Amino acid sequence: MKQQEQTKKFFKGHAADWQNKATDEIYSVINDRHRAVHHTLSTFANGSRLLDVGCGTGQLAIEASSKGFNSLGLDFAEEMISQAEVNAVNQKSNAKFKTGSIFDFVPKEKYHVISAMGFIEYISLEQLDNFLSFCNSNTTDRGAISIGSRNRLFNLITFNEYTELEKKLGTIDQLFEEASICVSSKSNEEFITAMREYMGSTLLTQNDSHPITGIEVGTRYQFTPSDLMHKIEKHGFKVTNIYPVHYHAFHPVINSDNFLTHRKKISEMVSENFQSEFRCLPNASSFVMEAVKSA
Ligand SMILES: C[S@@+](CC[C@H](N)C(=O)[O-])C[C@H]1O[C@@H](n2cnc3c(N)ncnc32)[C@H](O)[C@@H]1O
Repeated sequence: MKQQEQTKKFFKGHAADWQNKATDEIYSVINDRHRAVHHTLSTFANGSRLLDVGCGTGQLAIEASSKGFNSLGLDFAEEMISQAEVNAVNQKSNAKFKTGSIFDFVPKEKYHVISAMGFIEYISLEQLDNFLSFCNSNTTDRGAISIGSRNRLFNLITFNEYTELEKKLGTIDQLFEEASICVSSKSNEEFITAMREYMGSTLLTQNDSHPITGIEVGTRYQFTPSDLMHKIEKHGFKVTNIYPVHYHAFHPVINSDNFLTHRKKISEMVSENFQSEFRCLPNASSFVMEAVKSA
């Protein structure tokens, strides 16, 4: 089955699980990503428009609408949209939701911000290009995008099948080089500039399939910060911030059920205090990249 079909099948059957994951009170990766998106949203005026692509159960669109955004959440799994609509009613939110694929969506207006959390891993590299081109055409002048990505640098320190795969692909040295830039940069500006200079010089080989962890989709792309930056900046955006998300670089013994609560508490504590800390990027399994449309 193709990547997007597999994705749709999986998420159609998992709206209830997703809702639980989003509302986990100890630690939620969904919430953690949203915390990063709110940094971006806070730079826009009341009444600005947000499109959240692959909105799942709708928490981001609802939170944004409570902060004055006109938000629309789009998802091709109708079960996700039904749950999002229930959440909106329960929270007396003005957020709107729509079922459909982003690749069929024709907006009537431009958005100040387009966000996509946990989405780009489920589309092909060609579709990613199409999506970023859509973002350029459908954001306002100086509009922003906020894109969540699985972090390929994390494979350096997990010592699992993902690390093995990088070894097989011969990419460990490149990942190490990029991680070294992260950990040694002195300021966000220096870090972004260094990533921009590094990007493109070393395009990483991508494997078509990935080890399955939790979600039954065979191809779930990961990107390094410089790799995604390269792809985004080709489409007329300038990256302004990269936020690490989900710190959980521990051996499986600590990730086991016995210690899950402790591990979640650590993830929450570290993220709450260090989400703008680019030097810790290799220690996080995801990141959120913020970029502004060039004038
Ligand atoms: C991992 S979930 C993330 C949900 C939400 N953004 C969050 O962070 O909780 C990915 C979502 O993207 C949706 N999705 C994947 N491909 C899509 C497409 N082409 N158009 C619209 N939604 C899509 C899936 O149905 C799924 O709900």
